[in-house]
Amino acid sequence: MQAWWEVAALPEAEPERFAALAEAVGASVCEEQAPDGRVIARRFWVPEDARGTVERAARALGLGERIRLARLSEDWRTAWQRHWRAQPIGRRLWVRPPFAEAAPRGRLDLVIAPSMAFGTGTHPTTQLCLAAIEALVEQEAIRSLLDVGTGSGVLGIAAALLGVPEVVAIDCDPVAVREARANAMRNGVRISLACGDRPPRRRFDLVVANILLAPLVALAPELAAATRRWLVLSGIEKAQLETLISAYAAEGLRVVQSQAQSG
Ligand SMILES: C[S@@+](CC[C@H](N)C(=O)[O-])C[C@H]1O[C@@H](n2cnc3c(N)ncnc32)[C@H](O)[C@@H]1O
Repeated sequence: MQAWWEVAALPEAEPERFAALAEAVGASVCEEQAPDGRVIARRFWVPEDARGTVERAARALGLGERIRLARLSEDWRTAWQRHWRAQPIGRRLWVRPPFAEAAPRGRLDLVIAPSMAFGTGTHPTTQLCLAAIEALVEQEAIRSLLDVGTGSGVLGIAAALLGVPEVVAIDCDPVAVREARANAMRNGVRISLACGDRPPRRRFDLVVANILLAPLVALAPELAAATRRWLVLSGIEKAQLETLISAYAAEGLRVVQSQAQSG
């Protein structure tokens, strides 16, 4: 089995830059909190062959001296287990790695395996999307959903578990598509997956896209055209909100709700 490396933020590393580093290598930051809620450590894990990529990306982000890389001396599964716990999200979802406790009664068990694909359910941008999907599904009949930038498949799989009959998911990264397919099977749901960076030319009741500002703006005409009723966008910083709103206002869409969550 390939060895894993732990990448830890030193106190002088800005949380946003550290999160950008994790995202650049397809990982998610896990935060360790003190009992009073204060974040006392930020870490993520990468397989050994991604180490060079981490170091190059850290230098590019000005984090070269502000992170600590350590080869895990214990089995990496144990390391994940210590820090990656099940996440209750919204009223009905329970997102967890395979080794965490299963959902309690009344919650839908959504299992995501550790991988290089983004979307463990621990990231605020993912959690906001999951909560929005759940709220919309409870509010009205959502017959079809498009998940753009599916990563691990977490949003599309959640929609299928919540009862959306048709889920289509795309990602420009073939590794993500493979992981999403495996996760869909793991959760016993059928979703249609494809590798690509352009939405299909048809309409969906609900479109979700948790990617960065630049692709969200570039895709505005196509995502707006694919949306029959609702569009959920995530993955941006607060300061970028106006730019995003303007891009979609130009396509005739208006904001119904915006929510922020830090992390
Ligand atoms: C932040 S992750 C989101 C993963 C998951 N949907 C979630 O909410 O946790 C963004 C994903 O979008 C993919 N991506 C970025 N730009 C894209 C584009 N134009 N078309 C399709 N996928 C894209 C990346 O490969 C990555 O897997």
